[in-house]
Amino acid sequence: MNITLKIWRQANPEDAGAMHEYQVHNVSEDSSFLEMLDILNEELFEAGEEPIAFDSDCREGICGQCGVVINGVAHGPEVTTTCQLHMRSFNDGDTITIEPWRATAFPIIQDLVVNRSALDRIIQAGGYISVNTGAAPDAHATPVPKQNADRAFEAAACIGCGACVAACPNASAMLFTSAKVTHLNLLPQGQPENLMRVKNMLNQHDAEGFGTCTNIGECAAVCPKQIPLDVISTLNRQLGKAVLKGV
Ligand code: SF4
Ligand code: FES
Repeated sequence: MNITLKIWRQANPEDAGAMHEYQVHNVSEDSSFLEMLDILNEELFEAGEEPIAFDSDCREGICGQCGVVINGVAHGPEVTTTCQLHMRSFNDGDTITIEPWRATAFPIIQDLVVNRSALDRIIQAGGYISVNTGAAPDAHATPVPKQNADRAFEAAACIGCGACVAACPNASAMLFTSAKVTHLNLLPQGQPENLMRVKNMLNQHDAEGFGTCTNIGECAAVCPKQIPLDVISTLNRQLGKAVLKGV
């Protein structure tokens, strides 16, 4: 496959940035999208040019590090992570645009790499309990209803990639935050301080500059782990309880 790439290049956070055009030739349709970028980077390196900066780690859809906007869609044309996207999803002769996540809370570091530590700070704001829980109990000593375990596990699949933020017209991280709240609050270990957790995480969400959720649903449409939109309802119900109880 021969592909034309239009890629956002930005030398540093202060640089204005611009789209640059590149050609890549003889790309196998079995290459992953990131392998295709690796090929381009090798060519740039050999030509003495600065390679394109992009994030990746596991390349197995687990870590959430990768993630770019491909042809205007977070993670591209398949509902998967960028590292799990393959070139067979494109056609020979295609022009592909590649941009970083665009959100105030995700400042661009270089080219396609953004700083997503705002998501870490949301977890830090509520992903714990401050009561003394004693020694770790034996596994399975605390029964968890199957329905709750399944729902918590579904929410725990969130890998923190940030595609939901990139896809949302409001740059809201509500799907991410709701996934964390649903995962933790449904389990017995997360019951202490559960309403405080919702409040603290939401306060941090807003302080980081993420936008408000207006139920558009673009987030769930691109989520590679298919976190359902209704986790946001779970969060809102818990927020309502927190407000009623004056937490
Ligand atoms: S909710 Fe989905 S899109 Fe958002 S950070 Fe988690 S895995 Fe990524
Ligand atoms: S590199 Fe780990 S999820 Fe893509």
